[in-house]
Amino acid sequence: MKKYLVIGNPIEHSLSPKLHNHWFKKNNIKAIYEKKLIQEHDIKKLISEVRNGKIDGINITVPFKKLVIPFVDELSSEAKESQSVNTIFKENNKILGHNTDISGFELAIRGKGYVVKDKKVFILGAGGVVPSIILALRKMGAAKIILSNRTHSKAIELKKTFPELEIVNWGQLSEFNMIINATSLGLNENDEIKLNYKDIGSNKLFYDVIYNPKQTKFLLDAKKFGNQTENGKMMFIYQAHQSFTIWHKVMPKIDKETINLLD
Ligand code: ATR
Repeated sequence: MKKYLVIGNPIEHSLSPKLHNHWFKKNNIKAIYEKKLIQEHDIKKLISEVRNGKIDGINITVPFKKLVIPFVDELSSEAKESQSVNTIFKENNKILGHNTDISGFELAIRGKGYVVKDKKVFILGAGGVVPSIILALRKMGAAKIILSNRTHSKAIELKKTFPELEIVNWGQLSEFNMIINATSLGLNENDEIKLNYKDIGSNKLFYDVIYNPKQTKFLLDAKKFGNQTENGKMMFIYQAHQSFTIWHKVMPKIDKETINLLD
């Protein structure tokens, strides 16, 4: 029986096991996928278990996507550029670190039918997932990427890697076509991102990386003012889909049943 894991801290709320185990069943694959709460010092041992075949693949979530990098033998170009690994596997006796968040985001946006090319995009937040989002936006041809983070120094740090970023102070806005909430604000019901929706106007795309709750206040308010909205569910499904395809050389179905699993 093959064994797969998602590691993180916290990990309790991860829906990856549900999704992967569903696809195992649908594709008659004899494997199990579990979640594991870890500390930083556990990474080395876990990766050695991929090396010796005890574990067949690992997904990595917050806050370890960067911290696993020194323990793998090779990075894919996506993982290298984003300095973020969410998928680990062994190939030709080497431990490879790959990033499927970048294309997960791209597929979600394209799937929505939204054209990023020549658009101005405003990102809120500077956490672990942001480099992947920036790379996807770059690839899709965004005209401008503006970023704002509560801790200004983290935004400035990102600008070192992505010089095209325009940084604005937390609480300020500038004109955009698409706005992305990449902060953790919205995970709790009472969380609020203070935006002047009246001034922003309508017909923009509001994207929230959060998918649980399904509709953050950020998205609910955006809708009230006549904007399009999208939560992070499809990004999550697409990143998992690609990890699955790499590990099992099988493309699982993303159908209504799969999508509803996560509700
Ligand atoms: P990490 O920073 O460890 O990668 P993350 O969950 O990926 O964690 O990122 C959290 C993001 O949400 C950060 O951009 C964080 O802002 P700071 O860099 O200032 O911490 C943002 N965030 C979390 N709580 C917030 C709050 N109450 N107000 C504004 N931004 C918040």
